[in-house]
Amino acid sequence: MSYSADLLKDQKALVTGASSGIGEAVARHLAQAGAAVVVNYRSEQEDAEKIVQEIRARGGDAIAIGADVSKEEEVNAMFEQMLREFGTIDILVNNAGIQNDASFLDMTLQQWNSVINVNLTGQFLCAREAAKEFMRRGVQPNVSCAAGKIICMSSVHEVIPWAGHVNYAASKGGINLMMRSIAQELAPHKIRVNSIAPGAIKTDINTEAWSSPEEAAELRKLIPSDRIGVPDDVAKAAVWLASDDSDYVTGTTLFIDGGMALYPAFAHGG
Ligand code: BGC
Repeated sequence: MSYSADLLKDQKALVTGASSGIGEAVARHLAQAGAAVVVNYRSEQEDAEKIVQEIRARGGDAIAIGADVSKEEEVNAMFEQMLREFGTIDILVNNAGIQNDASFLDMTLQQWNSVINVNLTGQFLCAREAAKEFMRRGVQPNVSCAAGKIICMSSVHEVIPWAGHVNYAASKGGINLMMRSIAQELAPHKIRVNSIAPGAIKTDINTEAWSSPEEAAELRKLIPSDRIGVPDDVAKAAVWLASDDSDYVTGTTLFIDGGMALYPAFAHGG
């Protein structure tokens, strides 16, 4: 990655679920672009602290804060700590997300709720707290032309139905209209809200789908670009959406999926 460290200079970012995978890459890229970063984690404190140390070793600024984004008190405490230590927030990356898969008839209410609570309610709670601070502080022209930026980590499954993952697909479909409704409400206040919809990206969440050569070959059939993505592919888009380079972009979903959402099965036939 190579960004000018001025791109996000003096900006404070919070990345939820940043102790691994896409969140980790986003935190590292934002730091590289000059933002001070909160690396949020739920249980993997050691991994989060290691990322913080590595960001600092490269001359960046970062702290780790633990919080379960589905719990209102924990979200509020995380924001209080961030505002105490960093003074404000300019960029929220609503990234924390889980899968808890089951076929529809076997899906328990606990499995349904666990995914909706983290993936959808967690994004709502964090976005609300971030927006309150954006509104209180307003635009600081020497920092950014926006009062704040929110990036919601969605998925290709905000549009692609996913058998065996009804809870997950419903949470991501929900993120689409939550994000656009917040974007509509807050645009007059110079707050930008967008989503990123990753396709198959190599992380812990989907190891099963790419770890053996046979599985990886099956997965690549769903990806017209014939390549499984890596977290850096997503992180680069997050930096752009967080920066003033995307100042006229709000309420949109950027698919980072090698074409997975293009109905690849229709490339021949139909
Ligand atoms: C899921 C992954 C899956 C990918 C493509 C993501 O949102 O978390 O498990 O591989 O979508 O289906």
